[in-house]
Amino acid sequence: MTFTPAITGTGVFTPELSISNAELVVAFNAYADRFNAENADAIAAGEIEAKAHSSEEFILKASGIERRYVMDKDGILDPAVMHPVLRQRSDDEPSIMAEMGVDAANKALAAAGKTAADVGAVICAASNLERAYPAVAIEIQELLGVQGFAFDMNVACSSATFGIQAAADMVRSGSIKSALVVNPEICSAHLEWRDRDCHFIFGDVATATLIERAEDATGLYFEIRSTRCATEFSNNIRNNNGYLRRSRPAGMVDRRDMQFMQNGRKVFKEVLPMVSSHIAGHMGDEGVTAGDLKRLWLHQANKSMNDFIGKKVLGRDPAPGEQPNILQDYANTSSAGSIIAFSQNSDDMQSGDLGIICSFGAGYSVGSVIVERRG
Ligand code: COA
Repeated sequence: MTFTPAITGTGVFTPELSISNAELVVAFNAYADRFNAENADAIAAGEIEAKAHSSEEFILKASGIERRYVMDKDGILDPAVMHPVLRQRSDDEPSIMAEMGVDAANKALAAAGKTAADVGAVICAASNLERAYPAVAIEIQELLGVQGFAFDMNVACSSATFGIQAAADMVRSGSIKSALVVNPEICSAHLEWRDRDCHFIFGDVATATLIERAEDATGLYFEIRSTRCATEFSNNIRNNNGYLRRSRPAGMVDRRDMQFMQNGRKVFKEVLPMVSSHIAGHMGDEGVTAGDLKRLWLHQANKSMNDFIGKKVLGRDPAPGEQPNILQDYANTSSAGSIIAFSQNSDDMQSGDLGIICSFGAGYSVGSVIVERRG
């Protein structure tokens, strides 16, 4: 016997603090001036390159991002620090990722009219995890009071859709009745705020998605018609930080490759066709045509990228609201982006309406979820 999996609730934890492009550029330029003054001799001798200023106009035009939420603002905007500064928590307190995840998970449960007693598993799917073990997912499970099991998984920006596929498959097979897929993303901690090419890209957030048997839904829900995941190895988005760091010569020095690195232009050029053909193939195999689709909730990295994918999938420019973006307010929140877009732009859909959640990014990876409004 198999069951039909459904998304019955979603939740978003949004940090209280936000940084505008104007604030970000002031801090970056102060840092660049300071760097150039401190290294004036080496720059004059041609040994190192001077840092150029960033600009608000470039950021908006290149990405569509206007501001980003963060878990700490002071450290990021301090030209002498340039990264978030988070309070050290004792091992007996909830960890910061678990706390954000629990907030989003409680909102998802409330949206579905369910409690922790209705949940059979927790998957913490995120692009960074704050420790090696014990799993953040198990801590979230404990804080929520969920029975069953929990595990962490990481597929970078595609973590949420890959997590939804894992949960949906388990619900479909009957091994669990329901699962929370939780995506706490503190992207500000792996972003290199001292690099103007990327310092504007990321923000912090947590999302959660409750996946249950459709028959257990108490209100409107989204039936998961089908999921599809794909990966192709690429070094164009990479972060070399990891547990072997200490074991390597010069592993512990302040190195650029221990934060997020990307070759943005190549990513743009290579990921677009990969995502467009992935979605087209998934829709084709499910017998879904562009005319059947009411909405596209895409990964939130870059406005031009989303405009391109929307046009390719629909065969025309998406109408306002058809392919909602939230990146202008949240920036790229890695795996959480498409779930924020879905959570904030799906209530108006009518029974029978179809949509696609799609995330993509490092790996490369791409995951799509075809959903149908029901109830
Ligand atoms: N302010 C002003 N100028 C800047 C700048 C800044 N903050 N950052 C870069 N520039 C300059 C560059 O130095 C370059 O100058 P040059 O032409 O003299 O070399 C020029 O602006 C263009 O830079 P480039 O990096 O080629 O811009 P872009 O149009 O490719 O936009 C991204 C950059 C990152 C926004 C874009 O490539 C992108 O979004 N790529 C996909 C990212 C993605 O999806 N990643 C997934 C992450 S999970």
